[in-house]
Amino acid sequence: MVVDACARPSGDAVAKADIVPAMNVSTSSPPPASSGADTLAIGVFADDGAPAECPVEVHELLSSGEARRTLGALALAHADGRRWLLVGLGPRDAFGPERARVAAAAALGRAREISTRELCWVTPQGSPPATAAALVEGTVLADYRFDAAKSDASGAAEDTPPKHLAGLVVCDAQQDIERAVARAALVAEAANRARDLQNRPANDLTPTALAERARGLAAELERVSVEVDGRSGIAARGMGAFAAVAQGSDQEPALITLRYEGPAAAGPKLGLVGKGVTFDSGGISLKPSAKMAEMKFDMSGAASVLEAFGAIAALELPLNIVAVLGATENLPSGHAIKPGDIVTASNGRTIEVNNTDAEGRLVLADCLCHAIAEGAERVVDLATLTGAVIVALGSTYAGLMSNDDELAARLSDAGERSGEIVWRLPLHDEYDELIKGTFADLNNAPEARKAGTIVGGAFLRKFVGEVPWAHLDIAGSAWELERPYVGKGASGYGVRLLVELARSYCE
Ligand code: BES
Ligand code: MN
Ligand code: ZN
Repeated sequence: MVVDACARPSGDAVAKADIVPAMNVSTSSPPPASSGADTLAIGVFADDGAPAECPVEVHELLSSGEARRTLGALALAHADGRRWLLVGLGPRDAFGPERARVAAAAALGRAREISTRELCWVTPQGSPPATAAALVEGTVLADYRFDAAKSDASGAAEDTPPKHLAGLVVCDAQQDIERAVARAALVAEAANRARDLQNRPANDLTPTALAERARGLAAELERVSVEVDGRSGIAARGMGAFAAVAQGSDQEPALITLRYEGPAAAGPKLGLVGKGVTFDSGGISLKPSAKMAEMKFDMSGAASVLEAFGAIAALELPLNIVAVLGATENLPSGHAIKPGDIVTASNGRTIEVNNTDAEGRLVLADCLCHAIAEGAERVVDLATLTGAVIVALGSTYAGLMSNDDELAARLSDAGERSGEIVWRLPLHDEYDELIKGTFADLNNAPEARKAGTIVGGAFLRKFVGEVPWAHLDIAGSAWELERPYVGKGASGYGVRLLVELARSYCE
């Protein structure tokens, strides 16, 4: 298995945020007590008895009513020299991967409190390998924290439980889950690395630092190459829209192009495009200061594309991919683009910049053209594009817009499997009226506050021609999910979804 190839990144750019070693995830055959784990997690459905192999102390917890069976309920027994953590799973017929992630997060919280070093999860009777995978995802994602900048990060005070689990073992009596578990661990670790990139503040994670991470990935992985263009390269490629956003900042922008040629690749070449605005102040159309700090997350699309790309390459999936990240700051300055300025994108379209805060679509316009020029036959972009998508869908779904029903359906299915769900919004031709420019072909921000998220999608559609394309507006799902397994801060949304999408082309 190629799993270790991606166990930890080695790029210098992430070293700071990367001082905590990854969890060691493995599988074991029954009985679970043979795994050597100090704590065993046993799921109990609302409608089932206790698993037969449990000691009498565990059965007593259940018969006394101390252990409840609602999803995430916890009860603890000591027996046979280890701890037995009973985890309620709710009714069997309502159970699935998402509930397994929630149960895993609940178990991890208690396991950490009782200083568990190695946790063994016993998969419930009759569960498919997807349950084991989801237990791993829930545990690895819930175990994540970003405390690299806290000065007590390494020398924890005495008598506090360890911050991370050292090991997770999954024990399944019914089937071989090794591949599913190894893949889930790899992908969840990739999501956590995307969260590191997202959480790093803009003075640390500059466009140059993001490019360093891309270079680190390329150095670490087989069949991967990377190319980085700076300000002059972006201008030389005729990317007038991207360049216009970057011109207000002293930070060097980065157009990052990664290519992966999978072994025995078949199927369409997949283009993945990410918005990498490492800080979005709004530019001359300055944002209000409340919550402006959150705009360090405006590179979340690029982070997820980058780490999903790394996971796909580490899994050696048989397909070809080009990933394009558009990284820049959006700042006001004497050099900055001004409302009313007209810029020309690399496909020759002219754009009137009514609002410098609608910068994501300017960057993506050129990046989409570039991915297609690189030969992408299906293109998916991820971007924290509009506040309006938070109003429409909250943090639950990413907004999906597409010119292609097949690609849209594939993304919906991948969303259901990964738990990173999407909701499609319509791209009616009538919306094109809203983005027509007064003095140029297009405007980047119509005055009417109508259909804000869709207008962003309608704008991007002008840069993909006939190529099947989907746009995911992740402004609501990239952080503050408030799910039990990803709470505050960055979510890494999109890594699991894009890996599932790539896998769907490999069947
Ligand atoms: N990065 C923002 C979108 C955003 C807002 C993400 C809030 C997360 C939370 C984007 O660049 C932006 O400013 N969009 C504008 C577009 C408008 C000017 C047409 C918006 O949503 O207000
Ligand atoms: Mn903006
Ligand atoms: Zn933005």
